[in-house]
Amino acid sequence: MKKRVLVLSTSLRPHSNSHLLAQKFAQGAQEAGHQVELISLQGKDIRFCQGCLACLKTHRCVIQDDANAIVERMAEADVICFATPVYYYEMAGQMKTLLDRANSLYTSDYNFRDIYLLTASAEEEDSASDGPIHGLNGWIACFEKARLAGVVRGGGADAPATISADKQAEAYQLGKQL
Ligand SMILES: Cc1cc2nc3c(=O)[nH]c(=O)nc-3n(C[C@H](O)[C@H](O)[C@H](O)COP(=O)(O)O)c2cc1C
Repeated sequence: MKKRVLVLSTSLRPHSNSHLLAQKFAQGAQEAGHQVELISLQGKDIRFCQGCLACLKTHRCVIQDDANAIVERMAEADVICFATPVYYYEMAGQMKTLLDRANSLYTSDYNFRDIYLLTASAEEEDSASDGPIHGLNGWIACFEKARLAGVVRGGGADAPATISADKQAEAYQLGKQL
C-alpha cells in the first residue's frame, strides 16, 4: 500500500550528516513506491512554543511562522521520519522546538503510525543517540496509535558530509522496507 511519508530534516548546517541520512531514507521510500516529501528546517522561521494551549481547541498555533504548514503535513503523513544532529546527547533544539510547536496534534485526528529517527553524532558509540531516542519516545508516548519503528544511530560523523556509507545504506534500507 502506498504510504504518505514525511521526512523532517532538522539540521541547519550545510552538507549536514543527518540530512544525508534523511535523503537516503527518502530515496529508499520513494523507490519502494511511496509518496515522499522531505522538508528541511534550513531557512524556516520556527519560534518557541509559548505554552498558551490555544492549539488544543483550534488545532492551530497562534504564532504566525512556518511551523503550522509543517504540522499540517505531519498530521496528514502515515509515516514520519525525523533526522537530527546529536547536540549535548539530546536531539537538536530545533527538532525539540518543532515537536513543541506540533502540540495541536495532541487533540487532532492524526494519521501517522510509524515514526523513524536518524541521528548524526561525532561520537562513534551507539549510546550517543540514547538521549534523542528517549526524547522522541516521550513525544510518541503521547500518541497512542504511533510507535518508534526504527532508528539509524549515525555515530562517528563530525565534519560535514562525513557520515559513513554504511550508515547511509542503513537509512536507505529503512526507507526501502516501509
Ligand atoms: C552544539 C553542538 C553539540 C554537540 N554535541 C554532541 C554530543 O553531545 N555528542 C556527539 O557525539 N556529538 C556532538 N556534536 C557533534 C555533532 O553531533 C556532529 O557534528 C554531527 O555530525 C552533526 O550533524 P549534522 O551534520 O547533521 O548537523 C555537537 C555539535 C554541536 C554543534
